[in-house]
Amino acid sequence: MRVLAIYGSPRKEGNTARMLDAALSEFPSKAQIERVYLSELNFSECGPCRQCKTTGNCVIDDDMQQVFEKMLWAEIIVFGSPSQFSDVSVDIKKLMERTWWMKGQLKNKIGGYVISGRRYMESTLNTLHAFMLRHRMILGGSGALGFTFSEMGNLDNDPLAIRDSHNTGRRLVELYEFIYSDKN
Ligand SMILES: Cc1cc2nc3c(=O)[nH]c(=O)nc-3n(C[C@H](O)[C@H](O)[C@H](O)COP(=O)(O)O)c2cc1C
Repeated sequence: MRVLAIYGSPRKEGNTARMLDAALSEFPSKAQIERVYLSELNFSECGPCRQCKTTGNCVIDDDMQQVFEKMLWAEIIVFGSPSQFSDVSVDIKKLMERTWWMKGQLKNKIGGYVISGRRYMESTLNTLHAFMLRHRMILGGSGALGFTFSEMGNLDNDPLAIRDSHNTGRRLVELYEFIYSDKN
């Protein structure tokens, strides 16, 4: 079971990371888990140079190349994003744009997500759904939303945030076992 967790918040130990860690804690010990903290990487948005149309790869030589490798390696990809101005974080959005060249290569990977925010998180959720569905990924579960209720609030204000994150992790494992049952 190969799992990639993409931490999309500027805060490495913030609310989003807490939720993503809770989801990951549900994976069995045999799972290989790779963690990527986008805030620690240097990468740009899509050019758009459109060279991928001829090369079949993204030609921008920056840290996103190592994320691409991990995305192709993973069987399950779990995103964690704060809601920022009613959408995913800038880093998650940049990552999404940069995967444009990957057409078809994420197909049938299982995708999951956790989101933390003050309250307006619907568009964030829609962006993540659209990303996974456009890549023909399998959307695993309804994700987890953690409400902080105030600008710099924390998840302790929402008793369901961590519970739903655990449920998200459990559902991803369940779906994996259903799909890959011959490998278990
Ligand atoms: C620039 C910025 C914009 C934000 N915009 C929203 C928003 O539109 N909707 C929302 O619910 N929360 C918004 N928030 C609040 C964060 O999503 C919330 O504090 C979140 O839990 C932060 O996650 P973190 O602790 O992982 O950084 C915003 C925060 C920042 C810094």
